[in-house]
Amino acid sequence: MIRIENITRTYGSGDIEVNALVNVSLVIKENEFVAVMGASGSGKSTLMNILGCLDTPTSGEYYLSDLSVKDIDDVSLSKIRNEKIGFIFQTFHLLPRLTALQNVTLPLRYCDVTPEESERRGKELLAKVGLSDRAHHKPFEMSGGQRQRVAIARALVNNPKVIFADEPTGNLDSTTSYEIMDLLCELHTQGQTIVMVTHEEDIARYADRTIRMKDGQVVQEKLCLTA
Ligand SMILES: Nc1ncnc2c1ncn2[C@@H]1O[C@H](COP(=O)(O)OP(=O)(O)OP(=O)(O)O)[C@@H](O)[C@H]1O
Ligand SMILES: [Mg+2]
Repeated sequence: MIRIENITRTYGSGDIEVNALVNVSLVIKENEFVAVMGASGSGKSTLMNILGCLDTPTSGEYYLSDLSVKDIDDVSLSKIRNEKIGFIFQTFHLLPRLTALQNVTLPLRYCDVTPEESERRGKELLAKVGLSDRAHHKPFEMSGGQRQRVAIARALVNNPKVIFADEPTGNLDSTTSYEIMDLLCELHTQGQTIVMVTHEEDIARYADRTIRMKDGQVVQEKLCLTA
């Protein structure tokens, strides 16, 4: 579903040049659950941003469903991002003034969806993540795990082809982390493709495959048999 070939991403120039990614090639298949691991600064977030079309590589090829992203203009790219990709972040990235329901349905504002349909879909997803009774609460009135559930519901609102999660459990205690992982696993069982960055081995174990990065390169790819 996603294929990248010889992707390089260089930040800055001259003396302060940083090669965050060097010749990275990868394939993400449909319905896969992939964990990306590696030390701080190894290029995990840079890779996620490129895979999620939030950033463009300095060189290399990126194909999304066999479409070369190079040939697509910015407007079409943000449309693709909005329709095909869901994001989950370590710090949730919810809008503080909006309720859980409003946060979840926010991406639908840029789509051709009626307010009634948007509300119906938002409530359905809040129910799916176990938060029906928190629809009208604001982020500051919820726990970290609940906030991340809202963020997951928001990531799902457009039926994305793939979800990118950058350390989704990084700000959660271990009990809450496992609850969030159980939720992601359930989505995966239902066919959702997920790519997740994590530092923790016991979180990575939930995935089908682990990709290990070092100094901007993929140094190991391993299938997990105990997922
Ligand atoms: N906007 C930027 N400008 C310059 N250098 C950057 C920028 N973003 C990242 N880098 C550098 O690129 C390298 C890879 O960064 P990246 O954020 O991808 O690492 P990471 O593996 O996600 O680390 P962490 O586990 O700490 O989140 C690092 O050396 C970092 O300092
Ligand atoms: Mg990072």
